[in-house]
Amino acid sequence: MLTLILVLIVIFFLARSILSDISVTNPFGAKEKEDETIIEGKFTPLTLAKYNGKDSPKVFIAVRKRVFDVSQGSSFYGPGGPYANFAGRDASRGLALNSFDIACLTPITEPIDDLADLTAPEIESLDHWEEHFENKYPVVGTLSENEKA
Ligand code: HEM
Repeated sequence: MLTLILVLIVIFFLARSILSDISVTNPFGAKEKEDETIIEGKFTPLTLAKYNGKDSPKVFIAVRKRVFDVSQGSSFYGPGGPYANFAGRDASRGLALNSFDIACLTPITEPIDDLADLTAPEIESLDHWEEHFENKYPVVGTLSENEKA
């Protein structure tokens, strides 16, 4: 009888530990938490930076102040991908200049790049990339200096 009680106690604690593990790793719970951080589809350079495929499984990039969910292209933009530097960032200047040089990225604590100095061919290059993103990826929001703008 004592053995039976002991076995039941062990089973109880094992089951409790397994159940608490499930709730921690529950993918649906994680997703709900994820979505809470998206403020009405409005991003600032700082809040966008989280969607870099490392801090979040989702990868977003901004092109001309529109935020695209490029998660399905994570082989390009995810960690170790050739364009990983664009992940969670405003990629506009890099796309215009056809460069993934880090110098094309505006630091996330600085105002959004107004792209005012782009040449006609650079604007054309950015137009083509923007069209590419429109045709391939969903828009999930806009990029502005603050969330209320
Ligand atoms: C070393 C020269 C490069 C090679 C060989 C190369 C190669 C490629 C290839 C094979 C693709 C996939 C095309 C497809 O399947 O749709 C691609 C896509 C792309 N490349 Fe490059 N690339 C180069 C340079 C660059 C540079 C300098 C940039 C900087 C803007 C760039 C930005 C992109 C982007 C944004 C995509 C689209 C990915 C997507 O559809 O989400 N590439 N590149």
